[in-house]
Amino acid sequence: MKDFAVIVLAAGLGTRMKSSLVKVMHPIAGRPMLQHTLDNIAALKPSRLVVVVGHQSEKVSAILPKGALTALQKEQLGTAHAALTGMGRLKGFAGTVMVVSGDTPLLGADTLKGLLTRHRKAMADVSVLTAELDDPTGYGRVIRDGKAVQRIVEQKDATAGEKAVTEINTGTYCFEAGVFAAALKDVRTENAQKEFYLTDVVEITNRRGGKVMGVPAGRPEEALGINGRAELAAAERIIRRRVNTRLMESGVSIIDPDATYIDPGVIIGRDTVVYPGNFITGNAIIGEGCTLLPGNIINDSTVKDGVTVKGYSVITESCVDAGAQVGPFAHLRPGSRVGERARAGNFVELKKAFLGDNAKASHLSYIGDAVIGRDVNIGAGTITCNYDGYGKFKTIIGDGVFVGSDTQFVAPVKVGKGAVIAAGTTVTDDVPEDALAISRTPQTNKPGWAKNRRAINNKKT
Ligand code: UD1
Ligand code: CA
Repeated sequence: MKDFAVIVLAAGLGTRMKSSLVKVMHPIAGRPMLQHTLDNIAALKPSRLVVVVGHQSEKVSAILPKGALTALQKEQLGTAHAALTGMGRLKGFAGTVMVVSGDTPLLGADTLKGLLTRHRKAMADVSVLTAELDDPTGYGRVIRDGKAVQRIVEQKDATAGEKAVTEINTGTYCFEAGVFAAALKDVRTENAQKEFYLTDVVEITNRRGGKVMGVPAGRPEEALGINGRAELAAAERIIRRRVNTRLMESGVSIIDPDATYIDPGVIIGRDTVVYPGNFITGNAIIGEGCTLLPGNIINDSTVKDGVTVKGYSVITESCVDAGAQVGPFAHLRPGSRVGERARAGNFVELKKAFLGDNAKASHLSYIGDAVIGRDVNIGAGTITCNYDGYGKFKTIIGDGVFVGSDTQFVAPVKVGKGAVIAAGTTVTDDVPEDALAISRTPQTNKPGWAKNRRAINNKKT
């Protein structure tokens, strides 16, 4: 088998993005654009991978797989110049070189593999992956004479007749290394953009009597090249639709797939129902039979079977155990865990806090750096005062404790099993098992005081 290398072109800034971030690093479905392409290339197992970098090369280099070579293109003089820069890292290479753009993230591994297979079978010198588009505007057009591909003409250089051609160049090619290196030397900049066009290699190879082939992609939607924000959004929509379709096929109910945002790495169990407006991102794992009501953001978290997340909750790097209920409007910050059948209700914030099995914090609480035992009831308005401006301190509450409303725990503090904290208490000392803790100013009632005050004030006016 012939040797096989891949060159990825990723040096451009992406002027049409109007961004301070280099184009190929813009995220699509939670991952940089270029990452999608790199993942698909990895499936082809090339013996060498060269990534042509330029703008913000440190950022781009940081996501490359181990063993990838980088070629620095200092000035972006065009795609042929970029490919030539990449070839500089393949000295002595004699096999097939696939060139892929860093801005076509939807081209799947099977499509790329198909191009390579067809190229080799036909023993072509140059094979271009093409696509039939309803609206070819902006892409290079594939000009054929009968079946043979003659040349590729860019939108800006095309005549009206050429613009009417709907077969476009996806920017993905296979080249035989020797023919390719020789042809690159002949590319000139006599075109509308005064750039070295990689597409000129097609015409040059034809002129030299080489074999050029056009290979249409099976799924034209994969050809989408990201140049501006509208295409970025279109790619995002396509990837999300694929993820949602796969999940629905595996038994997940998604009420409105167009309004549900799930990253490719997310796992969701059968019979879970996802309402619109959920963002489930990163490496989140959702169990079976869960209900995710509208508007939650669940990132890098584990939600076990039978959990209900009521709307508008934010769950980050946390775990929700089986049968628990979270929200509405709950905030689980990193390092939190809600135990089995436990409940973190509305306006409850947990941070590095463990709510034991069957424990309940139903309303308006901040629980940070805390371990709460099983069957504990946390009353409304409970606050762990975990921070003194310098350090963080822990609150530990034993099983079966009843915490009355409006309690503050001034950490570090421990409450023994079965204790009761009276409403309105500021707990500054440890509370023994089964004790009552109460800290309140005794109440005094002054008979008639309010009536007198009214009388005084009414006289004034
Ligand atoms: C290119 C093709 C066009 C094709 C389209 C598919 C050329 C001349 N045109 O146009 O036929 O239909 O892709 O999406 O090739 N890059 C560099 N260095 C450079 C210039 C570009 O690394 O000097 C990289 C860019 O970062 C980008 C890729 O090459 O990832 C493609 O460049 P871009 O300017 O987007 O080309 P298009 O105009 O889209
Ligand atoms: Ca492009």
